[in-house]
Amino acid sequence: MRDKWTSNVGFILAASGSAIGLGNLWKFPYNTGMNGGGAFVLLYLLFLILIGMPLMLAAITLGRRTQLSVFGAYKSINKKWSFVGGLGVICGFIILSFYSTVGGWVIYYLKSSLFGQLNSTNPDFLDSVLANLFNSPSELLFYQFLFMAITVGIVLKGISGGIEKASKIMMPSLFIMIIIIVIRSLSLKGSMAGVEFLFVPDFSKINMNVAMDALGQVFFSISIGMGTIVTYGSYLDKKDNLITTSSIIPILDTLIAILAGIAILPAVFALGFEPTGGPGLMFVILPAVFASMPMGNLFLVLFFILVLFAAITSSISMLEVAVSYFVDEKNKGRVSSAIIIGIIIFLIGIPASLSLGAWDFKVLGSLNFFDLYDKLASNILLTTGAFLLSIFVGWVLTTKEAIKEIESSGVKFRLAGIWSILIKYVVPVAVGIILISSYWDFIK
Ligand code: PFF
Repeated sequence: MRDKWTSNVGFILAASGSAIGLGNLWKFPYNTGMNGGGAFVLLYLLFLILIGMPLMLAAITLGRRTQLSVFGAYKSINKKWSFVGGLGVICGFIILSFYSTVGGWVIYYLKSSLFGQLNSTNPDFLDSVLANLFNSPSELLFYQFLFMAITVGIVLKGISGGIEKASKIMMPSLFIMIIIIVIRSLSLKGSMAGVEFLFVPDFSKINMNVAMDALGQVFFSISIGMGTIVTYGSYLDKKDNLITTSSIIPILDTLIAILAGIAILPAVFALGFEPTGGPGLMFVILPAVFASMPMGNLFLVLFFILVLFAAITSSISMLEVAVSYFVDEKNKGRVSSAIIIGIIIFLIGIPASLSLGAWDFKVLGSLNFFDLYDKLASNILLTTGAFLLSIFVGWVLTTKEAIKEIESSGVKFRLAGIWSILIKYVVPVAVGIILISSYWDFIK
């Protein structure tokens, strides 16, 4: 018999563990900073409600209905669609290859904070710490490797185990820690400019590029479009209420992302950094915020431990998709699959790791390797996966069948009519339009 989550809480912990990660803490604030602030946040929320949340329910329903991980799930309903599972595997390889780069930075910063080397509010000093790391290939690769090794080590042990238990302590702790940073950040002189930047939309900033990034950010953040949620949903019990379960995860995820935005962007303005600082933003800002408070260094160490934990619970969910493909579909061993895939992802990630320092050249248009992987994963692959998911659940499985599955636990789905319209028409059309622009942007 297949494993089941020990309870619905098990699923919620694992799925929110997958959703809440570097996407919220690191990517959301810098993406907001690069895309003009409030306008990006507004689009993000709009896309989340109209596209992300309906798709989350679609993914969980598909998983539970078929009781199979993503490849089997598509294949069992229509053989021609099994390629979507393969697309998810490719996507997992690419995301994880640059995710492990950033995971490596987190470990490096954890080490540096342990040695008290980040205790400064001086922007120039903190910029130079990051620049030194970016220009040190051996350190970058060592920490990236370490992050992948931890991820592989955990995936080797199967889905349940210690992670589920640890999440119960680590996730609430992360939440409390972010609240502490928010309070400190908001009490800095000049922080209100950052709050305004985040929440007062400048509509002239809205354009197709901002829309592509906002939609890509939604899919990246809630882990939709590569099969993670379908796979996790397949372990749910028929009794579980899919409607509440599928709402809790995006709501929690967005709460953390917005809080991370309030923790970082007001401090950016108050301490004289630039909001357009890019991928390094979190790493230069937060040490400065902590350095300006009592016992700051201790908090900084704790914070990086929690960020690392959140990153690992996301990275294992990505690796799991790839490993389960080779185990279930290709009859390969779990241990050898995890190790080989881990090594391949590490190798693919090397150019991304080096591209902010030694290999800082453009490979496509204005993109270096790191940006290329990021845009390819979020704006092209995840968005394609999400588009196909909506077509599949809307038209192949059909929303009628999906609603039957949703209601099989005995709850009435009151928004069934609206959800059907969203999944069959609104989501494919909106995502389709943005996707075409993304393809165009990519090849032009
Ligand atoms: N949602 C994760 C984050 O926000 O850090 C990243 C991620 C995990 C994306 C799993 C996609 C995925 F399937």
